[in-house]
Amino acid sequence: MLELAMRAAREAGAILQDYAARGFQIEHKGRINLVTEADLASEGHIKRLIASHFPNHRIIAEESGVSAHSADEYCWIIDPLDGTTNFSHAFPCYAVSIGVEYKGRSVVGAIYDPTRDEMFAAERGAGATCNGQRIRVSDVERLEKSLLVSGFPYDVRERMNEYLPAWREFLRHAQGVRRFGAAAIDMAYVAMGRLEGFWEYGLNAWDTAAGWIIVEEAGGRVTKLDGSPFDNHTPSLLCTNGKVHDEMLDVLRALPNA
Ligand code: IPD
Ligand code: CA
Ligand code: CA
Repeated sequence: MLELAMRAAREAGAILQDYAARGFQIEHKGRINLVTEADLASEGHIKRLIASHFPNHRIIAEESGVSAHSADEYCWIIDPLDGTTNFSHAFPCYAVSIGVEYKGRSVVGAIYDPTRDEMFAAERGAGATCNGQRIRVSDVERLEKSLLVSGFPYDVRERMNEYLPAWREFLRHAQGVRRFGAAAIDMAYVAMGRLEGFWEYGLNAWDTAAGWIIVEEAGGRVTKLDGSPFDNHTPSLLCTNGKVHDEMLDVLRALPNA
């Protein structure tokens, strides 16, 4: 499954780069939520590959929903293009994300960034890699020495007052805070040790399914924003190098809207 996830992510990444080079149609799913021809082509390719190797496995994909109503306990969870807004502006920060969930936990994950040719991957119990080399979370122990990242869900205009207090407090307590616009990249960078922590309120299973296992296999920690156990089907996520997790939870718990 890991081999197939990596192959599918790499091939889908090539499809994205093809569209990036020759142009693509953009449509609106919502006021600020876009979908392009590239998202759809990438997703179609990944789904066909999975179905040809594991015809009984379930598939959840961002643009087409749940496609196989089998009772199989393996479920592939696909974001064919994470960072569509970046992609549609030719801002080079986006990825393909493919996770496999078994009995409610991610067991395999592949995140491929075609702009940097970086393949982040992990399998439960076997460690995490970037382009085949073992990766580990960073050793930073303190929030004040940490570089953090976050993102905004597409309902940011309606719920800005819920999302901004955490930004304000992390800007106050951390060394820096970034917003890249691709949750899968955010998680891969925590796994790689480029960032210490990532929080976000409104994520979907396809944003986190691969990143969850990659971060954990790299030695990091993943919970909900209140510190309770994470699962792919709830929107709140805190993932860190493990060492600054409790300090980030303290900040989140002290928020007025916590
Ligand atoms: C979005 C990106 C963004 C995050 C949003 C996601 P999409 O995914 O990951 O960084 O802040 O919550 O929905 O729509 O580009 O696949
Ligand atoms: Ca996404
Ligand atoms: Ca997407």
